[in-house]
Amino acid sequence: MKYREELIEIANLMVATGKGILAADESNPTCGKRFDQINLESSENSRRRYRNMLFTTPHLEDYISGVILFDETIRQSTFDEIPFPKYLASKGILPGIKVDTGAKELALHKNEKVTEGLDGLRNRLIEYRSLGAKFAKWRAVITIGDGIPTDACIEANAHGLARYASLCQEQGIVPIVEPEVLMDGDHSIETCFKVTEKAQKALFKQLEIQNVLLEGIILKPSMVISGTECVEQASIDLVASETVRCLKNNVPRCVPGIAFLSGGQSDELATSHLHLMNEKFKAELPWELTFSYGRALQHPAIMAWYGKDENESNAQKILHYRAKCNGLASKGEHCKVFEKELV
Ligand code: 13P
Repeated sequence: MKYREELIEIANLMVATGKGILAADESNPTCGKRFDQINLESSENSRRRYRNMLFTTPHLEDYISGVILFDETIRQSTFDEIPFPKYLASKGILPGIKVDTGAKELALHKNEKVTEGLDGLRNRLIEYRSLGAKFAKWRAVITIGDGIPTDACIEANAHGLARYASLCQEQGIVPIVEPEVLMDGDHSIETCFKVTEKAQKALFKQLEIQNVLLEGIILKPSMVISGTECVEQASIDLVASETVRCLKNNVPRCVPGIAFLSGGQSDELATSHLHLMNEKFKAELPWELTFSYGRALQHPAIMAWYGKDENESNAQKILHYRAKCNGLASKGEHCKVFEKELV
């Protein structure tokens, strides 16, 4: 494989000890939803101002190894006219890019989705590499409900993820493979375990079929957790142990790292789950366990910013603090006392 050594090196940098990934790759409609919370109109300029605020956070690189960008963002610049990917790289942060084109309705399968974006992907990856992208992201969405997910949904998404991953590696870009089992619904943690296990098994089978170099990927899974409307919410302890049990059953040892999505968990809960997994199990795990959070990193920062320049430095302090909490959690060294001390 042409880029073998480069892929392994980048993947390992993405999960360097004490660091994780900031997912800032919201599509324009999703960014619009986030801005609705602060009554800010979503425009190319307001999105640039927001991303500029996030990325220019002093010392962000202490806890953030990489940032996932959206197509519009990878082409934008800081207000000193430095392209964002170049600016991030100058801070020692790897620029990444979301390359899927979204989860669309799966034909003949009600309430299920399949992620699209394979058409023309090779050429898009060539361009993204020239713009500085070192890694990419593709998110598959699996919904739990009455009679779903079906095998059709699991298999179609696993196939898409593996085809995407092989195209990325062909172009020297590390693929983040993200099979997200949604938290929406009243299902139990046991059901979530079964579905997550099935999705991960199907994914690793397809990655093998497509010759994907497992040493050169990062897995971005959802945690094994109760549905948001389940009356009995599993404890932090159970989420940590069931998530790790599922990964141990399904993720080959040669995968360098696992970086969780936050999926709608509160920022503190997402930190606590990651912390406990590492505190309890780190010594026995072959891979790094870290974060690739979107909402759980950005939410407190966007609320503090509220679209106003005068709030920028406070919002940056809050983002840095959240990144620090998660950086420590990725080493199993975050504790509640610390969380309170620094608020
Ligand atoms: P959340 O952490 O908000 O789930 O976002 C992570 C992500 O990149 C989803 O694709």
